[in-house]
Amino acid sequence: MFQPVISGTGVFTPDQIITNAELVKAFNAYADKMNAQNADAIAAGEVEPIGHSSEEFIVSASGIQQRYVMDKSGVLDPDIMHPTLRERSDDEPGIMTEMGVDACKKALAKAECDASDVDLIICAASNLERAYPAVAIEIQQALGAGGFAFDMNVACSSATFGIQAAADMIRSGSVKRALVVNPEICSAHLEWRDRDCHFIFGDVATATLLERKEDAKGEHFDILSTRCLTQFSNNIRNNNGFLRRTRETTEALPDRRDMQFMQNGRKVFKEVLPIVSKHILGHIDDIGVKPDDLKRLWLHQANKSMNDFLGKKVLGRTPEDGEQPNILQDYANTSSAGSIIAFSKYSDDLEPGDTGVICSFGAGYSVGSVVVRRA
Ligand code: COA
Repeated sequence: MFQPVISGTGVFTPDQIITNAELVKAFNAYADKMNAQNADAIAAGEVEPIGHSSEEFIVSASGIQQRYVMDKSGVLDPDIMHPTLRERSDDEPGIMTEMGVDACKKALAKAECDASDVDLIICAASNLERAYPAVAIEIQQALGAGGFAFDMNVACSSATFGIQAAADMIRSGSVKRALVVNPEICSAHLEWRDRDCHFIFGDVATATLLERKEDAKGEHFDILSTRCLTQFSNNIRNNNGFLRRTRETTEALPDRRDMQFMQNGRKVFKEVLPIVSKHILGHIDDIGVKPDDLKRLWLHQANKSMNDFLGKKVLGRTPEDGEQPNILQDYANTSSAGSIIAFSKYSDDLEPGDTGVICSFGAGYSVGSVVVRRA
């Protein structure tokens, strides 16, 4: 058995930002336009008017202040209200490949490692731009990596589930070095015309390099243990998939709300928190780590109140500044990438021997935890 370690992480951040002020202005212009168009039906009580969104609500309900996106022009145009991403030819790298490769190169540079030494790439993300060939294989080719590559999807838990899969393969000896890459274009599966969720998501890509401890050249984190859990729920759901065309009769597919991200946010809030806190506490207890031993929690980045609650529940007290870093105020919810952004930005200062937990949770329901110790 080999000891797997995390020796590098990388974050690709898009260069376009949408602030809450810009987002709310565009949404309210869209709402006014729709309400004017439907004025008669609204007056007759047949159609509900669309209410205005507000910056105050967004910050108090979520803690989110801005988000990075791959295309802001479409999202902020009240006549479009979604990103307009150029369709690429089959001979060009896909957009997820482009984002993923950037994050992978940063992770490789941090670990002082060559792409040609990587023999496993897992592209783990909550939505993939096509069915096949796997995005991971395109990334493998673009980087010049060897071995094999595959895609997987466990929604917001994709990164931690991918890390468990890669760590297990390193432990058993079937691979030597793995990149788990999470290109998340959440802006493309968010319904920007839905006031209840239009503020939630942003785009990003993260990459995590795992290798055998004896191969790590620089500073690294030992992976002490990983644990995954799933429990079926419809409270976060997206029905878009390849069966769609076989179900629809018209050539122009109708605009169906269930073909984008949908959630019952209140239920998610109430149901997921107990599952996650029990999962983390059970995981660390089983490997002899006490809550007091945890120097840092790198949690899934969906909602500030959720993270405040989890930090308190896991540590048994209010976390001190820096113990449970949030990045969601800048990035919003970036699905599987959120906890890896937090880890990437807030782990260099830990001392040798310090222990922490990376934990993601979301649709499925799914929870993944990775307990790491600074070597
Ligand atoms: N601007 C102004 N008001 C808004 C609004 C907006 N953008 N969106 C919703 N509201 C209104 C609602 O209509 C509702 O009004 P009502 O009380 O008159 O019915 C009120 O604000 C409260 O809405 P609600 O949806 O209950 O808010 P919330 O406090 O539950 O916060 C979420 C919403 C989504 C931020 C929160 O439920 C959440 O984060 N849940 C967990 C999400 C999660 O982790 N998902 C995983 C995704 S991967």
